[in-house]
Amino acid sequence: MGLSSHPSSAPPSLSFCMHTVILLEWFGLLLTSVADGNNETDRLALLEFKAKITHDSFGVLSSWNDSFHFCQWQGNTCGRRYQRVTKLDLQSLKLVRSISPHVGNLSCLRNLILKNNSFNNEIPSEISRLRKLQYLLLQNNTFSGKIPSSLSNCTNLDFLAAQNNLLTGEIPTILGPLLKL
Ligand SMILES: *[C@@H]1O[C@H](CO)[C@@H](O)[C@H](O)[C@H]1NC(C)=O
Ligand SMILES: *[C@@H]1O[C@H](CO)[C@@H](O)[C@H](O)[C@H]1NC(C)=O
Ligand SMILES: *[C@@H]1O[C@H](CO)[C@@H](O)[C@H](O)[C@H]1NC(C)=O
Ligand SMILES: *[C@@H]1O[C@H](CO)[C@@H](O)[C@H](O)[C@H]1NC(C)=O
Ligand SMILES: *[C@@H]1O[C@H](CO)[C@@H](O)[C@H](O)[C@H]1NC(C)=O
Ligand SMILES: *[C@@H]1O[C@H](CO)[C@@H](O)[C@H](O)[C@H]1NC(C)=O
Repeated sequence: MGLSSHPSSAPPSLSFCMHTVILLEWFGLLLTSVADGNNETDRLALLEFKAKITHDSFGVLSSWNDSFHFCQWQGNTCGRRYQRVTKLDLQSLKLVRSISPHVGNLSCLRNLILKNNSFNNEIPSEISRLRKLQYLLLQNNTFSGKIPSSLSNCTNLDFLAAQNNLLTGEIPTILGPLLKL
């Protein structure tokens, strides 16, 4: 009796709930695109990354072209929900040259794995813009200069490996607990 006496009470609250969810999702999307870029930002950042690589012995970056969505480009993993890169794994591919500062625009990136290549020059400080970054594996390359102190801004960073490089200077003290050297 109690259940059937107000048959119209359920739909309004259900629809309110759905509206709230939709509104929140829309708001979340808006925030994501305003604060963190979007899938187009990722695509451009990856193309800039590719442009800084001068030797690609295994030809893995040849798949990074407009015939495929960038989530299918070799080495990339995108999140299930949004088409944003969450993992870039290009380890052990004999890649030569530097990391583009544009890597800092891959704002959903959690894992950046570039170990065991021939990346040189400095580690771009723009990496510190990757606020979701958890794993940064750069060991066994020829990076020079210092580990950017701005990396301390990557508050989610759990694991940083940078041994077997040509890095100089001091390890930023604030990173001390994070470092695996
Ligand atoms: C990027 O996202 C927009 C809006 O969600 C979508 O229309 C577009 O197809 C996406 N492009 C790529 C390359 O994922
Ligand atoms: C894109 O890459 C694939 C695989 O490497 C290749 O077969 C295709 O021809 C490329 N497309 C363009 C437009 O370069
Ligand atoms: C490092 O990369 C080279 C070239 O791809 C590969 O032959 C070697 O097995 C890699 N070493 C490790 C420890 O992954
Ligand atoms: C991406 O990063 C570069 C270098 O850090 C910057 O100049 C550029 O404005 C950024 N934004 C986009 C949307 O590419
Ligand atoms: C480091 O790089 C050298 C040369 O490519 C390779 O022989 C070696 O296996 C690599 N070591 C690790 C730990 O990746
Ligand atoms: C960390 O980020 C804040 C806010 O974006 C910025 O003001 C500060 O300079 C950054 N710290 C370093 C060491 O780059």
